[in-house]
Amino acid sequence: MQKTIRDPALWNEWHPVALAEEIGTVPKGVCVLGEKIVLYRSSKGITAMRDLCIHRGVPLSLGRVQGDRIVCAYHGWEYDQSGACVCIPALPKHQAIPTKARTPTFACCESLGFVWVCLGEPSRPTPIYEDFVPSELIPLRMGPYPVQASGPRVVENFLDVSHLMFVHEGLLGDREFPEIDDYTMVEENGVFRSTEIAVYQPDPDGRGHGVTSRYTYEIFSPLGVRLTKTADGSDELFHLFLFVLPESETTCTAYMLQLRNYGQDIPDHVFVDFQNTLLAQDKLIVENQKPELLPLDLQAELHLKCDRVAIAYRRRLKELGVTFGTD
Ligand code: FES
Ligand SMILES: [Fe+2]
Repeated sequence: MQKTIRDPALWNEWHPVALAEEIGTVPKGVCVLGEKIVLYRSSKGITAMRDLCIHRGVPLSLGRVQGDRIVCAYHGWEYDQSGACVCIPALPKHQAIPTKARTPTFACCESLGFVWVCLGEPSRPTPIYEDFVPSELIPLRMGPYPVQASGPRVVENFLDVSHLMFVHEGLLGDREFPEIDDYTMVEENGVFRSTEIAVYQPDPDGRGHGVTSRYTYEIFSPLGVRLTKTADGSDELFHLFLFVLPESETTCTAYMLQLRNYGQDIPDHVFVDFQNTLLAQDKLIVENQKPELLPLDLQAELHLKCDRVAIAYRRRLKELGVTFGTD
């Protein structure tokens, strides 16, 4: 049996598959939990269907969109947005199209400027994160960032405070100030949240001034988390969501949504370039970690008090029964 079938947690989750602006009338192929999916936009909205023509197994993402239909590149079979094949050019007009001629479609929605797909039965019409986005903040979307590591490894790296002074030295941390004061994790309505963690940061967002930041980490779902940052003596508020698309057990694509209440006039590329630098630093670590699948058995690795967010994350994945990308 495929691991994904045994993984109702991820099967019924909304997964980020693209920035909304990436999906138009040119079909785009993506991969969710090992399932190849084609996405396209028509007057009926965005359609997500299995990226495989049932005639001879050609990916529909090689085809084109015509009206509200997607047309296979090989023999021109046309599928409507329900996945039904509604035109077979080689079939004489008086012959009916076989009812079996259809391809599965998947739940798909647009939210927060991203496109999301659910392979199973979503518990809500859109992802939960919308409820945590204050409208007065400036949004900035980042990604896609492909990573050769399991989704849970990438999320855990994002939730790890004590690497900042080493992997991101000079930016998010300083190795002269590596100690992490004690903090706790609290749960509220299924969201796991750390209390504030103080970190001295030489250059926390690319603007080049050092501050003592207060970090809060939140775990909303198996692959959707948020960092909130405030600074002593400042009104600035900064959120960074991380949404990870699990493609295979050891590959994923990360997307980020930054929200801030300052720097209206700062061009986006300042923040994007900065995030790209951080991502490259993290990639080197997570792409080389062993084992590749995140161990959920807490005895498997050593944990310190400062790893409480990661411990809560591993516990949560275990509780939900996440098996894809974990061990
Ligand atoms: S393979 Fe798609 S139409 Fe033949
Ligand atoms: Fe990092």
